[in-house]
Amino acid sequence: MSFENLTAVSSDSILGLAQAFRRDPAPEKIDLTVGIYRDDDGQTPVMHAVAEAERALLAAQTTKSYLPPIGLPGYRTRIRQLVLGELDAGLADRTGVLQTTGGCGALRIGAELFAVAQPDKPVYLSDPTWGNHHGLMSGAGLGISTYPYFDLDGHTLTMDAMLDCLQRAPEQSLVVLQASCHNPTGADPDAEAWAAILDRIEQRAHLPFFDLAYQGLGAGLQQDALPVRMAAKRLGEFLVAVSCSKNFGLYRERAGALLMVAADAGQRRVLESRVKQIARGMYSMPPAHGALIVDRVLADTGLRNTWRRELAVMSQRLAVLRTGLARALAERRPDLDCSWIATGNGLFLQLGIDTGVVDRLRDKNHIYMVRDGRINVAGLNGHNLAVFADALAPRLP
Ligand SMILES: Cc1ncc(COP(=O)(O)O)c(C=O)c1O
Repeated sequence: MSFENLTAVSSDSILGLAQAFRRDPAPEKIDLTVGIYRDDDGQTPVMHAVAEAERALLAAQTTKSYLPPIGLPGYRTRIRQLVLGELDAGLADRTGVLQTTGGCGALRIGAELFAVAQPDKPVYLSDPTWGNHHGLMSGAGLGISTYPYFDLDGHTLTMDAMLDCLQRAPEQSLVVLQASCHNPTGADPDAEAWAAILDRIEQRAHLPFFDLAYQGLGAGLQQDALPVRMAAKRLGEFLVAVSCSKNFGLYRERAGALLMVAADAGQRRVLESRVKQIARGMYSMPPAHGALIVDRVLADTGLRNTWRRELAVMSQRLAVLRTGLARALAERRPDLDCSWIATGNGLFLQLGIDTGVVDRLRDKNHIYMVRDGRINVAGLNGHNLAVFADALAPRLP
């Protein structure tokens, strides 16, 4: 027997909760677990721009032959522009792009690349962060450290402690930075804070690895890429893991990209050859469908405008829900300052409640959220927001 020494491991706790939600027969149940966008009816519909691009692709499709290991040329160029904006020829020449299987694929391959280059250096993740960052980085063999990011009680960023930690981290560490819509807190540094972070990164010759999974779902397409664009102006090297799962609603199609900004064009070619080799050793070629859709949406002015409008509706809905929740809680708990709830970005909000409260909300009220107190704001809607506020308000610390 080959596998008799293996025992079962528990599934990702977020996915496990989503399963428990599906099994719960209560009609009034509320799902605030998995980070997917939902509309006011609780649906995650196919975006119109995506559906239209998909129809055109199917009509024109002539082959299912492999893509090149590095990905679709048009997609790679357009993603680079979406993230970095209009770039000058020098930066374009220094920026390599690998099409990946979603943002996770980009995070894992970027980690593998760093592990080959700097096998003894650690990776720093924010505390708290999205749970899967740990698996993706340790899977590549990197030692994991964390930097303080958020004060759960005060609901604020811990900038001084973060900067101090980056200062003390071993030189040339890999530092994963969520560019916007931080998962799980929804709290992002402003331009001034990003400048201070990049100062530390530069002083200590760390390699920033931006995780850009929510571009356009926070403060807008440009603003959500702000730290990446700031880094492009001043740093010689950095990586970006791009996901099209949320902003194109292409979750299951696995469209992503790893951007590698290198010191010069020669180094960029080296990095592209390396990541191609890493990908080849893992899965060989990326899937085509999602990338073809993104490429078509971004290439066609009409489709691009439709997509931008749809994305703006989504981000506005998230902002309205945050404001609505802050107001509903303030009405029920006038003794508390709930204004911070309205200030975050993107899908997530960290409520700062303990696991006992999370468990009671699930068991008594059929309200499901991640056990660290993170909610997916998009799971709220006109029907359930007041119900949620009624259940949560008396239990807020
Ligand atoms: C912070 C963060 N990074 C990356 C990802 C990866 O997204 P995907 O692999 O689905 O494109 C997610 C998905 O939830 C995320 O929350």
